[in-house]
Amino acid sequence: MRPEQVETAYARWAPIYDWSFGKLTSVARRRTMEYVSGRDGSVLEVGVGTGLSLGLYPEGRPVTGIDYSADMLARAQDKAAQGNLPVTPELHRMDARDMDFPDDHFDTVLAMHVLSVVPEPHRVMAEMTRVCRPGGEIVVANHFARETGLLHLAERAISSIPGTVGWHSDFEREIVTEAPGLRVAHYEPLPPLGVMTLVVLEKPVPEVKLPEASPRAAEAVAEPIA
Ligand SMILES: C[S@@+](CC[C@H](N)C(=O)[O-])C[C@H]1O[C@@H](n2cnc3c(N)ncnc32)[C@H](O)[C@@H]1O
Repeated sequence: MRPEQVETAYARWAPIYDWSFGKLTSVARRRTMEYVSGRDGSVLEVGVGTGLSLGLYPEGRPVTGIDYSADMLARAQDKAAQGNLPVTPELHRMDARDMDFPDDHFDTVLAMHVLSVVPEPHRVMAEMTRVCRPGGEIVVANHFARETGLLHLAERAISSIPGTVGWHSDFEREIVTEAPGLRVAHYEPLPPLGVMTLVVLEKPVPEVKLPEASPRAAEAVAEPIA
């Protein structure tokens, strides 16, 4: 979807999101948050939406949330302002394609039901990789396109109207599982019926290459000191 389509579609979704799509995805969200809660350190939640996940973090976890839609983000800000969340999230309006965070910054970068919505999902994966620290994890929960069957045909048909429904129903899993610079560490179809999938990707710590010893240095080690 183009950015202006995201803005229009989610201005429409925002007032009804929590009890419609938000409810449909609640089992997948709970399982994903259970995984994220088992990790230590800071979390960046990309496309935090109306903030349905915010009540599911462990007490005191440093959480930063971003979203492109002012209407969705306003609802997350309302939830945070009520003061009964286990976390005090930093919330920013930001485009996930071009994030205003330093390299190698967050321990976990989370995107739930977002990558099939954003314009240029490859670019968003690259940005999420950039801001994740080496040794950290990128956690994605999303619907992926089916490759065969009636549902595959239905998804192809719906995908021709992404600006209307608010996401791409034919989103390709390889955009996530084959993202450059990451390694799939965990892959789990989620209930109901595996419509959503949890994928955990690790950003490897770069190997430190020690400089090779020069032949002269090697001789010096071999020669006994007189
Ligand atoms: C289906 S909602 C998911 C919200 C939340 N993660 C959840 O699980 O309920 C998708 C969200 O992605 C946001 N989004 C779409 N494009 C974006 C972009 N380029 N940058 C940041 N957020 C974006 C939308 O505004 C919307 O809030």
